Amino acid sequence: MTTDLIAPSILSANFAKLGEEVDNVLAAGADIVHFDVMDNHYVPNLTIGPLVCEALRKHGVTAPIDVHLMVKPVDRIIPDFAAAGATYITFHPEASEHIDRTLQLIRAEGCKSGLVFNPATPLSYLDYVLDKVDMILLMSVNPGFGGQSFIPATFEKLRQARQIIDNSGFDIRLEIDGGVKADNIAEVKAAGADTFVSGSGIFSKPSASDAHRYDSIIKEM
Ligand code: DX5
Ligand code: ZN
Repeated sequence: MTTDLIAPSILSANFAKLGEEVDNVLAAGADIVHFDVMDNHYVPNLTIGPLVCEALRKHGVTAPIDVHLMVKPVDRIIPDFAAAGATYITFHPEASEHIDRTLQLIRAEGCKSGLVFNPATPLSYLDYVLDKVDMILLMSVNPGFGGQSFIPATFEKLRQARQIIDNSGFDIRLEIDGGVKADNIAEVKAAGADTFVSGSGIFSKPSASDAHRYDSIIKEM
């Protein structure tokens, strides 16, 4: 049985004090750090790169860093993220010319690899590469922004992906990203997810500014 992992998306954190924000969610019980990389080309937003990943490592973050690449092309940035301390590197199949090669490159760089599926992207991209995948990430919103609503069709897709993983016999995590909050996480888990990204559901709660502000939110998950 795989352990469930809570992965706060730092997209919704306060970037002016990112190290502190990450320390606080980890201290509150989060397991891995979800790191959204957007290029204003593959998706209509621009965020952070390897420098920030490296800065979190230098700050002392030892938890796994889950780098979600929403960039095109993907291959040339992978070695930089590996060197910056990424644990997982996931990418969208539409953004790679050679999906099998990109998966191999991620593992060759010493990271865990993953494929990300937009709401309308079919799971058939997995057909010939399952042995090269450590994580399947299903988007339950269209990528680019935090704070969107969970697309209900994702529940059926989660069940299909769970079946693919269980039938494969490989050790693959099933991550869900977009609109996940304390009030729907149980349903998302029941559909098969074991790794839960939550951005606005964790960071955007209006609350005290003390170090424990995330405790109750994460414990509820
Ligand atoms: C969207 C990003 C998500 C985003 C999720 O493109 O991949 O990780 O931060 O944010 P919420 O949880 O607010 O939907
Ligand atoms: Zn993400």
